[in-house]
Amino acid sequence: MDILRLSHVCLRTTSLDKARYFYSDLLGLVETEQKGDMLYLRGTEEGQHHSLIIKQADSPGLAYIAFRVKDIDKAKEELEQMNIKVTKVKEEGVDDAIVFSDPQGIPIMFYNDMEYVGDIRLEFYKHRGASPVRLAHVNFMVKDIEEEFEFFKKLGFFETEEFLDKEGKRMVIWMTKNGQSHDIAIGRASTNVPGFHHLTYYVHDVKDIIRTADILASARLWDSIERGPGRHGATEGYYIYVRDFDKNRLEFFTADYLVLDPDKWRVKVWSFEESRYRADFWGRPVPESWLKEWVPVEDPFTGKLRW
Ligand SMILES: [Fe+2]
Repeated sequence: MDILRLSHVCLRTTSLDKARYFYSDLLGLVETEQKGDMLYLRGTEEGQHHSLIIKQADSPGLAYIAFRVKDIDKAKEELEQMNIKVTKVKEEGVDDAIVFSDPQGIPIMFYNDMEYVGDIRLEFYKHRGASPVRLAHVNFMVKDIEEEFEFFKKLGFFETEEFLDKEGKRMVIWMTKNGQSHDIAIGRASTNVPGFHHLTYYVHDVKDIIRTADILASARLWDSIERGPGRHGATEGYYIYVRDFDKNRLEFFTADYLVLDPDKWRVKVWSFEESRYRADFWGRPVPESWLKEWVPVEDPFTGKLRW
């Protein structure tokens, strides 16, 4: 299937005003516009209309993850051949979009063409907050990680790294389409699945990650700083994880690697014995909340949350 790339995420919020304050005023995501119950945001290098939609809802969670595809009719046909039911969806700035639930219940949208509003790449005086550059990856939780892995393999993603549990079974798998360390990370869980763990914006500098902590602390939002700043073992990137007012989770991330030759890449397998430094290379413990909490996802056909 001709997936071009990870494009955007639609998140639920209980307050658009609070979400704008958090994502745009404090952290520097660029606001394209608000229309009705939807706030459209993007990074400094993203010319597209949005890479994050914040949607007014009665509780937090994920509405869907969106990918750009080369040919929407062909994608639809191929999904139907896999016995996946799809439906059309309307979205601001986007033509001919479809949504569906993947085999593990993650809501996914495909589209081909989004309006371009222009990036602010070289307009440095407009860069604010953490200076988020572009949507880098998403991380979601499923019950059957092997089935999810097979599905994304069919979509043309390849594996870069994985975590094994005590029994040697896979518990996290990182996959990429275009050669970044990852576009998606699939986690395994037995409860609260399917779930959405976090979305991540790339930043250019470790300083932007430290600045995120400074900004939130100076806004007296200490409890929003959940994990880090730190350095991952897996994927190599520097990171910070923050929680918005609804407990949706956002990561800023930099300095991961590129897979130059996918045919030569050897999957980096992290054993259970490497637990001390695979999640945080400096050996810092991972907070319980990060390990145990994430948000529910919508059924794209009913708009209702799955748990
Ligand atoms: Fe991440």
